[in-house]
Amino acid sequence: MIQTLENKSILLIISGGIAAYKSLELIRLIRKSGGAVRAVLTKGGAQFVTPLSVSALCEEKAYTDLWSLKDETEMGHIRLSREANLIVIAPASADLLAKMANGFADDLASTTLLAANTPILIAPAMNHMMWENAATRDNLAKLKDRGVSMVGPNEGDMACGEYGMGRMAEPEEILEAIQSTTS
Ligand SMILES: Cc1cc2nc3c(=O)[nH]c(=O)nc-3n(C[C@H](O)[C@H](O)[C@H](O)COP(=O)(O)O)c2cc1C
Repeated sequence: MIQTLENKSILLIISGGIAAYKSLELIRLIRKSGGAVRAVLTKGGAQFVTPLSVSALCEEKAYTDLWSLKDETEMGHIRLSREANLIVIAPASADLLAKMANGFADDLASTTLLAANTPILIAPAMNHMMWENAATRDNLAKLKDRGVSMVGPNEGDMACGEYGMGRMAEPEEILEAIQSTTS
């Protein structure tokens, strides 16, 4: 059954993977379901989709900077998670997962995640060898132990021309995971 996201606020973190283009469709789907979306782009994420496209789809500014005088006057890195029902990381890069697993807080996304008291859903996306790397396996095990939920990844053709596990879940699958996590 399709569940509405009415009155739900999603904090979407877009990190640096080629699948970031799919996060634009995800924003559209969340909004169509009645939810509000606020987005944070990592430095890598902003290489793949522009803050302007993300802001236009969210109808709200996209957050990118930990050192923003205006946003941090209101403690943006704390407020962003407190005002959300769920944090969704899509795509979740190997780098951002490593930062999360090890408590790094050197940019807006990782600092917000370390300070979060909100449930977190990750949609990993990466090359299959990155996915199978022992470092990534360890990082994911730590995150799972801490109660982080995951959707995907799927097996299939990769943007790099290789084949394997690591394709980001499709936006519709991520939407369903959001709906069941927030219901
Ligand atoms: C063309 C290109 C595609 C990339 N795709 C991915 C990807 O799908 N998944 C991933 O984990 N890293 C990918 N990377 C590497 C990340 O962008 C890089 O590790 C970056 O530091 C991630 O930063 P962030 O996690 O802070 O956004 C890619 C890099 C390039 C140049």
